Amino acid sequence: MFGDVVRLSRWLDVWECHGVAGEDYIPAVEIGRVRAQGLVDALDGKGAGLGQLWDAYQAYRAAVPDTVQWVPRWDVCAPEGVKYLMSSAASEGQWDPQMLDWTIDDSRLIDILFDEMPPGGEDWWIPLYARPWHRAAVVDGYPVEFRVYLLDGVVRGVSSYYPQRPLGDEWLPWAYACWYVAGQFGSEFPNCTLDFIVPHERADDPPSPENPPLWLESGPHHGEARGAHPCCFMPGKTNGVALRLQPGAIEPPGRRRAGEILAMLTEQDDSPETHFACTPPAACVEGAAHAAE
Ligand SMILES: Nc1ncnc2c1ncn2[C@@H]1O[C@H](COP(=O)(O)OP(=O)(O)OP(=O)(O)O)[C@@H](O)[C@H]1O
Ligand SMILES: [Mg+2]
Repeated sequence: MFGDVVRLSRWLDVWECHGVAGEDYIPAVEIGRVRAQGLVDALDGKGAGLGQLWDAYQAYRAAVPDTVQWVPRWDVCAPEGVKYLMSSAASEGQWDPQMLDWTIDDSRLIDILFDEMPPGGEDWWIPLYARPWHRAAVVDGYPVEFRVYLLDGVVRGVSSYYPQRPLGDEWLPWAYACWYVAGQFGSEFPNCTLDFIVPHERADDPPSPENPPLWLESGPHHGEARGAHPCCFMPGKTNGVALRLQPGAIEPPGRRRAGEILAMLTEQDDSPETHFACTPPAACVEGAAHAAE
């Protein structure tokens, strides 16, 4: 188990307990829960209740307008569609209606689920959240976003989150602002990474306590099993500040055209066996509307 730091639910608690101001992080509303064992059974073709789940999913999709700018987020990771769109620059760093979808055969979720299923984990319920889309500053198709590496209570490094796209030195103050925010928690925090975006509407003003980066979420530290990606850093060398790909860094995925990636997502199997929703549709819609406020 690589522990709780992977779960957004944990960070929602941390933000509340540590008095992080509500406007300094992206909120999340729980819109449903899915039982991990139920997903595993469904993947094994044993999902007795899948017909019902499919009906709920259809109703949810019909009820949520494609114009509401929120994104689903599993407790443990973003749905793979969101991740693909962002990491391929297919969305140009903007919200896309494709982000509203999630599927049962989500490879990112399944990887974590199989690794993390605790012994006797039949009762592990995984929350699904809706989060309002918050537009980040965009440079060359990718959001301006930073990952901070915190180890033993000390910030060791900050990297631009998207190594696909080099950032100029004009972004250094924002990188240091992320360093500063993450450094305030010190030894109260476990080893982890902290991800921040630079809000689009405030990006031209210098960062300050009144103009902070926006905390998106956090995750495991780099270097442990299933640890965080080193972004622009060479694996194992996540010290200092990296705005661009460093020597020895992992080669980033290629840029893909919007049409190409959207076609790939649309081609996904659309059958009841692979989609699900486990929440009464009304609750989903209420959550979505609330999150979009
Ligand atoms: N509400 C949002 N507003 C703006 N951008 C978002 C939002 N949610 C997700 N994103 C974008 O989508 C990307 C993936 O989302 P998220 O960080 O939740 O996924 P993840 O599974 O935790 O990724 P990683 O494993 O790299 O930490 C983010 O890095 C960010 O660029
Ligand atoms: Mg993460």
